[in-house]
Amino acid sequence: MTARGKSKKLNKAWLHDHLTDPYVKLAQREGYRSRAAYKLKEIDEQLHLLEPGQFVVDLGAVPGAWSQYVRRKFGRGTSTDPAAAPGPLHGTIVALDMLEFEPIDGVDFIAGDFREPEVLALLETRVGGRPVDVVLSDMAPNLSGVAASDAARMADLVELAIDFAQRHLRPEGSLVCKVFHGSGYSQLVERFKASFRTVKAVKPKASRAKSAETFLAGIGLKPRASGVDIPK
Ligand SMILES: C[S@@+](CC[C@H](N)C(=O)[O-])C[C@H]1O[C@@H](n2cnc3c(N)ncnc32)[C@H](O)[C@@H]1O
Repeated sequence: MTARGKSKKLNKAWLHDHLTDPYVKLAQREGYRSRAAYKLKEIDEQLHLLEPGQFVVDLGAVPGAWSQYVRRKFGRGTSTDPAAAPGPLHGTIVALDMLEFEPIDGVDFIAGDFREPEVLALLETRVGGRPVDVVLSDMAPNLSGVAASDAARMADLVELAIDFAQRHLRPEGSLVCKVFHGSGYSQLVERFKASFRTVKAVKPKASRAKSAETFLAGIGLKPRASGVDIPK
């Protein structure tokens, strides 16, 4: 089969999966920008990480389903209807992505590449020394198909997210990070274990079984070797 034929077949398979996916339908019904909302929902329901009043940083936030989930949770009042318009925001949400973000009421968005020092500096200015409760990262590099270089680029993003979390989380705070199973996975788990008291790996049902993605949650910072720089 030609490359064009293969790509046509893959597109058809993707479209079929997309149109028959129950989470796509649920997201449309409940007004989420993508089915990704249900991955975070499941992680949150399992680990109880998100509470109104918290300060949350959402890295790799576009199209915005995770931010929507947090915004709804922090403004739902007593309503159990996930599609109900959220009330006043109890908490702080700062989202970042290098792509354009359609605004969400109450979510402070920063446009830029998290790997760029000036973008990180801008994010740190917005954080303004306040302790962060939860850092979320759904960032992933554009995959090249070359396993070793994809794993290295993913590890680089995870490393930067851990570093940010170590400098800005409150001691009992948590980091949820997308990672890929496969080359480099066990090193990332070790890296999480070196930084957090509790480490959980979660593969939500909403994450497609054939996708290598999984999520690592680190809960409670271990004291850093230097013993400094952990916000109180
Ligand atoms: C899977 S999507 C995130 C979906 C999002 N959690 C949601 O619920 O809508 C991954 C995002 O990470 C972003 N991303 C990847 N690398 C990044 C980087 N270095 N800096 C900022 N954003 C990045 C991409 O632009 C993309 O929008």
